[in-house]
Amino acid sequence: MNKAVILVGGPSRATRFRPLSMHLPQPLFPVGGQPIIWHQIKALSAVKDLKEIILIGFFEDFIFQPFLSKCQDEFPSITFKYLREYSQLGTAGGFFHFRDQILRGSPKNIFMLYTDICCSFPLDELLAQHERHGRLGTIMVTKVDRASAHLYGCVVVDHETKLAEHYVEKPETYVSDMASTGVFVFDQEIFHFMARVMEKRASEFEHERVQENAYGRYDDGDDSQDINRLRLEQDILRAMAGDKKLSAFLCTGFWRQIKSAASAVPANALYLQQAHENSDSILAKSSSEGAEIKGAVYIHPSAQVHPTAHIGPNVSIHARVVIGPGVRINDSIILDNVHIKDNAAVLHAIVGWDCRIGKWGRVEGSKVIGPNDIDEVTQAGVKLNSICILGEDVHVKDEVFIRNSIVLPHKELAGNKHNEVIM
Ligand code: GTP
Repeated sequence: MNKAVILVGGPSRATRFRPLSMHLPQPLFPVGGQPIIWHQIKALSAVKDLKEIILIGFFEDFIFQPFLSKCQDEFPSITFKYLREYSQLGTAGGFFHFRDQILRGSPKNIFMLYTDICCSFPLDELLAQHERHGRLGTIMVTKVDRASAHLYGCVVVDHETKLAEHYVEKPETYVSDMASTGVFVFDQEIFHFMARVMEKRASEFEHERVQENAYGRYDDGDDSQDINRLRLEQDILRAMAGDKKLSAFLCTGFWRQIKSAASAVPANALYLQQAHENSDSILAKSSSEGAEIKGAVYIHPSAQVHPTAHIGPNVSIHARVVIGPGVRINDSIILDNVHIKDNAAVLHAIVGWDCRIGKWGRVEGSKVIGPNDIDEVTQAGVKLNSICILGEDVHVKDEVFIRNSIVLPHKELAGNKHNEVIM
């Protein structure tokens, strides 16, 4: 039997995802017509013998319950649980803290997935390679361009034996173009290894405390929180690589991070294109009496799209949205209950819940270039926000042009804006 853990973080994380994470937690933000973590869950549901998916985070318990009830109906052979950390324990701290619950039923392999990524998730291939090499864990890596390797956790890999020889977090000088994807699989013995790392850390802490005491620098503050805080990549994977207990599996499908709000647009496009390649019925189709649909487009059944609108490619239109005559939308996410009036255009943008865009209005960002999570583009030497983002309940008046701007919730925009953050 196999299990999986998805790290969902908590309200104090995902700050770069604002203003969108002000309305709902980042893991539940929709890309490709579904919440970000639904894609992780869907991929895990196809793994052989996977019986349980555990979300670990420090959001309040009730936040994920409606989503997990839906998942329970959609994937009935899997059990879902949410476990709440009492404080932010780091990317390995919660995993270690809840080890008894994770080990219940004695799973052979335990997947761990980050939330803030979108990926083709080749989990069967990852598991097959992990079992073939029989090491304690396998990290899924992706090839990134050399110039941006310093932005990631980099892994030096022996491509013949698949051994991960070194792990370096965001190295200042180039060590490898193989970056950690935030997808891992471990043997159940991982917890013994983690326990040894924790013991070593505890004795180091104790030693430091004695030293500080001896020099009169000891403050009686509660440092138990720091002791329990454990980072998967720096504290665990680096030690595993040092002990030759870590394999690396190369993901050749798509992967990118979803850190900033702007990065939701390319993630949306990647999942829609995947659905297009799989001829997924979730996607909208052009018909003689309906709107013109170009490329991969998701339209919620409750949305109303005027037959003279031009939609696509790479567009998600959510519940109760109303799109007027002559509207043009591409590379964008339109969230619930938005109204876009006649002849308006929305390009490379995210339009937040309950927004209104007036007639001939225009909300336009620029294409995000490159594979990384880069929010800015440069035009004629001037740095611009890439995607244009309207927070919840923003009203753009008729004929107003909002370009490369980020607008916080509940604003009324009666004049044009360019490359501004409107608070
Ligand atoms: P940055 O590039 O600095 O953002 O680091 P990173 O790519 O390693 O990502 P980060 O460590 O911030 O988060 C990776 C994943 O773990 C995300 O899905 C987070 O939501 C989640 N995460 C981060 N810290 C915690 C934590 O303390 N507890 C839990 N449960 N999840 C966490």
